[in-house]
Amino acid sequence: MMRGIIRKKYGWPPEDGVLEFRTDLDRPKLENFQEAREQGMCLIKVVSTAMSPVDYRLVEGWLKSVITETIPGAGLGKEFSGVVVETSSDQFEIGDEVFGELEGDISGTFQEFCCATEQSLAPKPAQMSHNDAAALPVAAIAFRAVRDYAHCIENKRVLILGGSAATGSVIIQLCRHHFGANYIAATSSNIDHCHTLGCDTVYNYKAGTMWYNEDTDFDLIIDCVGMDSWDQARNYAPLKTQFITLVPASDGPFYLTTALSMMTSLAARSAVHMLGGHCAYSVILLSDPDPAALVQVAQFVLDGKLKPIIDSIYDFTLDNVADMLKRQKAKLVKGRQICTIHTEAQGLEGVVR
Ligand SMILES: NC(=O)c1ccc[n+]([C@@H]2O[C@H](COP(=O)([O-])OP(=O)(O)OC[C@H]3O[C@@H](n4cnc5c(N)ncnc54)[C@H](OP(=O)(O)O)[C@@H]3O)[C@@H](O)[C@H]2O)c1
Repeated sequence: MMRGIIRKKYGWPPEDGVLEFRTDLDRPKLENFQEAREQGMCLIKVVSTAMSPVDYRLVEGWLKSVITETIPGAGLGKEFSGVVVETSSDQFEIGDEVFGELEGDISGTFQEFCCATEQSLAPKPAQMSHNDAAALPVAAIAFRAVRDYAHCIENKRVLILGGSAATGSVIIQLCRHHFGANYIAATSSNIDHCHTLGCDTVYNYKAGTMWYNEDTDFDLIIDCVGMDSWDQARNYAPLKTQFITLVPASDGPFYLTTALSMMTSLAARSAVHMLGGHCAYSVILLSDPDPAALVQVAQFVLDGKLKPIIDSIYDFTLDNVADMLKRQKAKLVKGRQICTIHTEAQGLEGVVR
């Protein structure tokens, strides 16, 4: 048996009979996963889990027409750090400390144990805490976003929309310490925080200080906010600018028609760019895991190029998880919110190599 959060129905607010904290959940079993037989999988004792914006969207049911999950009964959370307690993988042994992100449609890290494929895991460096490691899967996504989608960044001028978002805060640091940008600006109400991360200039959107009133000369704009970001960019940025977004759809229910309209607008925007109408528009969609990127971001931390940004750390209670979801949806979060499922010492307790 284990403690864990399950989702009883779709809805909002989360405490309105939507989530349930159970102490009698069955531990997940490797033999119930086809992946465990085909590609190697681990049963992991979760020490720390991180909340992402995907979690409140799942809770509300916004993604229900594009994913497969069972309600009531589905879990919550995808990003975690913990200890391997059973394994069918050649890469990981019992007792190994690992971090990663559950693949595909599976959620369930706000619980004592979870199963993850070896492709979605990386070794946690011994000197790193589980809380910091649980904040790294989003860093791997942010790293891949820039590495794989930005046309050119070295010695270029970069603007990050949403500099204190979990993704934005990683992108600022890597633009400064890894990708070699020569000027970094961001939009954020956390001015000092973004300067500390490595920004040259921060535009406080809450005080009405808008980037396009002061400087439009950017080679690359990386959007971690969505909403009207693209409208601002296409109106003000020069043709040479590349605009890449992690948030191509508005926040709300996502249907197959939403995906179709995203693809149509992507094609239309590319055509207008080629005709000289506005800057280039690219959409970042990363769902497949990349263990090498997880290893890389852990190395960035060890090398002092990246600091995991943790907004807050919560004990594992239903009220706390509901609060985390509400703060996440209200975009009040700077970096990642972490929930401690086990203490560091409990993580290794009873684990026999
Ligand atoms: N495509 C993908 O594969 C992918 C991967 C990861 C994330 N995403 C998406 O990227 C988005 C960001 O996610 P996240 O987890 O990094 O961050 P998040 O937790 O959603 O971001 C919260 C932050 O947003 C900032 N913010 C809100 N409105 C803003 C505005 N108008 N201008 C500038 N900043 C604003 C707030 O900053 P202040 O504190 O400065 O007010 C707050 O710190 C989400 O929509 C997420 O789903 C996509």
